[in-house]
Order: sequence, then C-alpha cells, then structure tokens
Amino acid sequence: MKQNLWINGENVKTEKYRQLSNPFNGEKIADVAEASKEDVIKAIDSAAGTITEMSEMEAHKRSDILRRVAELIQEDRVECARLIAEESSKPLKAALGEVDRTIMTYTFASEEARRLYGETIPMDAAPGGEGRVAYTVREPLGVIAAITPFNFPMNLVAHKVGPAIAAGNTVVLKPASQTPLSAYKIASYFHKAGLPAGALNVVTGSGKSVGDVLITDDRVKMVTFTGSPVVGKYIRENAGLKRVTLELGSNSALIVDKGTDLKRIMPRIVTGAFSNQGQVCISIQRIFVHETIADEFVSMFIEEAGSLKVGDPLDEQTDVAAMISENDVTRAKAWIKDAVENGAELVYGGESEKQILKPTVLLNAQPTDKISCEEVFAPVVHINTFREFDDAIAQVNDSQFGLQAGVYTNDLQKAFKAAKALHVGGVMINEIPTFRVDHMPYGGVKMSGTGREGIKYALEEMTELKLVSIKLD
Ligand code: SIN
Repeated sequence: MKQNLWINGENVKTEKYRQLSNPFNGEKIADVAEASKEDVIKAIDSAAGTITEMSEMEAHKRSDILRRVAELIQEDRVECARLIAEESSKPLKAALGEVDRTIMTYTFASEEARRLYGETIPMDAAPGGEGRVAYTVREPLGVIAAITPFNFPMNLVAHKVGPAIAAGNTVVLKPASQTPLSAYKIASYFHKAGLPAGALNVVTGSGKSVGDVLITDDRVKMVTFTGSPVVGKYIRENAGLKRVTLELGSNSALIVDKGTDLKRIMPRIVTGAFSNQGQVCISIQRIFVHETIADEFVSMFIEEAGSLKVGDPLDEQTDVAAMISENDVTRAKAWIKDAVENGAELVYGGESEKQILKPTVLLNAQPTDKISCEEVFAPVVHINTFREFDDAIAQVNDSQFGLQAGVYTNDLQKAFKAAKALHVGGVMINEIPTFRVDHMPYGGVKMSGTGREGIKYALEEMTELKLVSIKLD
C-alpha cells in the first residue's frame, strides 16, 4: 500500500516515501509519503485559501460535519482499532477503547460548535463607560498547525482537529511518523462528511522538513502540539507570535495512603502503570505508598502485574505489546540498569524480547534516577514509601513535570490538602493519575506544558475574543 499526502481534498504524490513497519512483528505496512518543504507550503496555501469558507460556515453545519465524522468512525470501529493496533502496537482492547473515545471527542466537538458563546459587558461599571452596549464574540484564528504523537493516533488527533473545525478554523495536521495511517483515515472521514476541501490537510514527514515550515510560516496562527518537552520548547522558541499549546510529558505519581482497600484498587493501578506499554503521558511512573501497607501493596502489585498477558497486539486478550521503537526499549533498559546500580531493587520484569519490554517494577529508586525524574514512557514503575502524608506530597512535587497526580485516601482532610498542594494540572482523588474523559480540562504545569485541551477549553485556545462596543447616543 502506498499512502500519499492529503492536500486540498486530494491524494497528492510526492518524491520520497518511507517504509512503515509494524512495531510488533517488523512486517511492512505501507510506504508513506515524506512531504517536502514545497508540499507543506502547498498544504498551508490550501488551508489559508479555505479560511473564509470555514469562518463563514454556520455553526450548525460545522456541528453536523463533526457529528457525521463520529458516525463514520462508529461504523468502522473495529477496522479503526485494528489500524491503530497494527501501526502503533497498541493492544486491540485498548485500541477499541481509544476509538470509542475518539467518537466521544468528535461528538463533544460537534456539540461545542453550537455553544461558542460570548458575554455582555456592563460597560457602565467604569466611569466613562456609560451609554454603551458591549458584547464579546469568539472568532476562529485561521490556519492551525496540529502536531500529534503516536500514542493515541486517533484520539489525540481528534483533540486538535475536533475543536479547530468546531470553531471554524482550517488545519494542517502533521501526525507522528510512526502512526500516519490513522490520521489519513480520519481525513477521509472528514472528506466524506462534507468538510470543504482544504479545511483539513495531512502532511507526513520529518520534523525538519514538515514541522519547521509549519511553525515558522506566518500564515499559521497557532501550533497545537503533543509530544516531548524538548520539541515543545523548540516550537515555543521558534513559533514567533503564534499561539502555542503544548501538551508535554510527565512522570506521573500516585499516593496510596494507609486504610486504602488495596484489593479493590490494584487492577486499576496496574492498568494505569502498564496500559499501552506505559506510553501515555499520564501513565503511573512513581508510586508512594504508606510504609505500613507497603509490603502488602508490593506483593499484590507484582501478582497483578503477573496476570497481564504480554504479546501480539491483535490478540484480544493481550494487555501489553511492543513498544514503539527498539531505541525506546534500549533507553528504558539503560535507565533501569542505572537505577539498580544506584541502589534500587528490581523486583519484577526488566527483560525484553524484540520490542517488547516486560512490565517492570522497581523499589526505592532515587528521585535523581532517570527512571524517576525523567519521563520513562515505558512499562516501568517504581514504588517508594512514606511515613507522613506531607512528605508524600513533597515527593510528588519534587519533579520538573506536573500533568496529573492521583491520591487514594479515606481522610477528607488529606484529600483536600493534596488537592491544594499538588502542583499539577489535574488532581485525581481516589483515582489513578491516568484518568481522562475527553471533555475535562487536560494539560499541565511546569515542563508538562501550557494551555488546556478538553474540547470546550481547546475551543477557547483556538479562537480570538473580539469585543464589540456600541455607543448609544
Ligand atoms: C496523553 O498521553 O497525553 C493522552 C492521555 C489520554 O488521552 O488518555
């Protein structure tokens, strides 16, 4: 199969193609277009040329297109999940879950397209403001560049394309090189749903030839990016006056207080640590357990991790499959080795076979070990203990990241204390940090990024607030 670019509602051939292989078995999936600089400029031309049509399209029409996209994905639910599983090695049951979330995300986008409210401003609240009626409206920004990661190849595309179209913008989408086909598939649904040609363009290729053009072209008014902090920082430094939303990584933490019913929560915690091979920005990486329940917690955690089925992502029973690249397996193993050399105890896993890294559990890693202070993005978790609840909060906050944190406690005082003191974008009480439903605000502080997703919140980022003031006399 040959996958061309998608520009101005058409398949566009280019000079270079790159082989895309299945991360689990190495088999070739497709030859995928590598856009040249000129191709990306053509995609921006096409998006810029469709701004007027999109910004003048009525809200109910934008809403209908998005609803239709959700329906088309629903019709192809299993096919979409298999595509995600093949190109990203996400286990099929998780891929089905992602497709269901994608449908939900476009449904929310469809609904929010009808709810782009402004407000009236009481101008006479300030001396000199009397005799005026004023109100605000939200207008689309224009061309938005969306740069998306491999770990949720459909739903994280939906979190950018959905609100962008809902607000009446046009989009040039650069999906991750490892998962281009899911993005092209989504573009085909928008086409079928009646989106004007040029309102959504997809260009695949390297960060240099595609990403650099997108972030420096003055016609692009916003860059919305999910990926690594290094790339996020590069985008912010090179995007000029464009609006920039960055959803970056984290080393998400979970606190488990004494008195917690471990049996009830254990399957969920293990899922939060190892789902999609830990390649989730809010995957549980650091666990802090009260010292009085630590031994019981560790043995239950290892037993539960041992029940996970490791293998082929297309097998419906599989829980953990291959990581996205061999380099990532090598990196994660090197970080495990370093932590062990620094005194951590490897109590489960640590071995790999081809691109599968077995779920891995370490005890007592140092906060300065890479396995703790960097984003591991692999099925690796470490468990440490605490005596005082304040100390657990301090350990969670001792991080360059701050996306989401989870706390299990039966003590209301402690729950409120954690909610206030944890320096993150989202605090999940009696829940793992790996919790997300698609309309909630989602984003981080510190190196975890700037701006918020969650359709309503993304719509705010993707529109310009305009004030209209009418003098009455
Ligand atoms: C992410 O990895 O940032 C997205 C997590 C999610 O949507 O569940």
